[in-house]
Amino acid sequence: QNARESLYIVSEFAANYFANELWTGEDGRAIGLSYFKERGFREDILKKFQLGYSPDSWDALIQSAVGAGHKEEYLEKTGLAIRNDKGRLYDRFRGRVLFPIHNFTGRIIGFGGRTLKTDKNVPKYVNSPESDIYHKSNVLYGLFHAKKAIRDADNCYLVEGYADVLAVHQAGIENVVASSGTSLTTEQIRLIGRFSENVTILYDGDAAGIKASLRGLDMILEEGLNVKVVLFPDGHDPDSYMHHVGSGEFKKYIEDNRKDFILYKASILLKEAGTDPIKRAGIIRDIVESIAKIPDDIKASVFIRECSGLLQVEERILLSELNKIRAAKF
Ligand code: CTP
Ligand code: MN
Ligand code: MN
Ligand code: MN
Ligand code: MN
Repeated sequence: QNARESLYIVSEFAANYFANELWTGEDGRAIGLSYFKERGFREDILKKFQLGYSPDSWDALIQSAVGAGHKEEYLEKTGLAIRNDKGRLYDRFRGRVLFPIHNFTGRIIGFGGRTLKTDKNVPKYVNSPESDIYHKSNVLYGLFHAKKAIRDADNCYLVEGYADVLAVHQAGIENVVASSGTSLTTEQIRLIGRFSENVTILYDGDAAGIKASLRGLDMILEEGLNVKVVLFPDGHDPDSYMHHVGSGEFKKYIEDNRKDFILYKASILLKEAGTDPIKRAGIIRDIVESIAKIPDDIKASVFIRECSGLLQVEERILLSELNKIRAAKF
């Protein structure tokens, strides 16, 4: 317990150190702060999420932390410092802008660090590793700042990335979280379920985002939550789209393009299938497979009816398909 507390404390120290570098450091301001500003992020958002900058040095954080009395052991255990095979410690985050990751009580448990380089060989994000205080599969980026709004709105927007959380917040929508650093897990969905039963997926409008949304919506249905999806045009993600069209237009887009999972799945799959009747039959089965994940029979039957209307297939046929899928599961 005491050791865990030390990990929280050194993480908090690091977040303050990185934020201080961003706002007052020479490189932090010239490189980090101007990067965020060029991307269109407002200062109040940068402050609210305690964003930072790690100097391009091998041990700037380590020097500062050890100088302030923090033990190397804890820097290592949080993954802020890495020991090389010669036994020397060096900083994990160097020359990156940093997104501190909070647990839902607001304590800092890890970091995501974005490169400022456009070089494709440099990983875009470097993330803190798992530690005694950071279990990625149980964490949602932004939940601490979103939980009240999720309850009030009785809906949670789910995005892919750190920048998406910031951008959606900046548009005035605060009920937003990201499953950053991992693909969506059952634990993360259950965590959302503590605040609302309604999830709206806002993933990137590219092939990877669409694929992840189809996987995510099945997992969300399986946990008994309701799920809708918004697809962004031209490969946009929520962050790029918000900055492209502005916050008013962004909100309107979400309102106008929110589809329940059946309509979303049908529109995606029908686009792929074209007029091929065999492929269309496959789609019907695919959608019924999603409906079969819904634990509540009454809800499932409502969606069977909707599916029947949408795809012009008799309800009775869909129901027998549903029962076949369910029987096969046991
Ligand atoms: N991610 C990661 N490691 C990578 C790439 C992505 O951990 N090498 C995670 C990050 O949490 C990232 C999210 O996956 O925010 C979504 O990835 P991507 O869409 O590629 O990045 P964006 O969030 O859009 O980042 P940016 O807008 O800064 O380019
Ligand atoms: Mn733990
Ligand atoms: Mn992406
Ligand atoms: Mn993205
Ligand atoms: Mn992005």
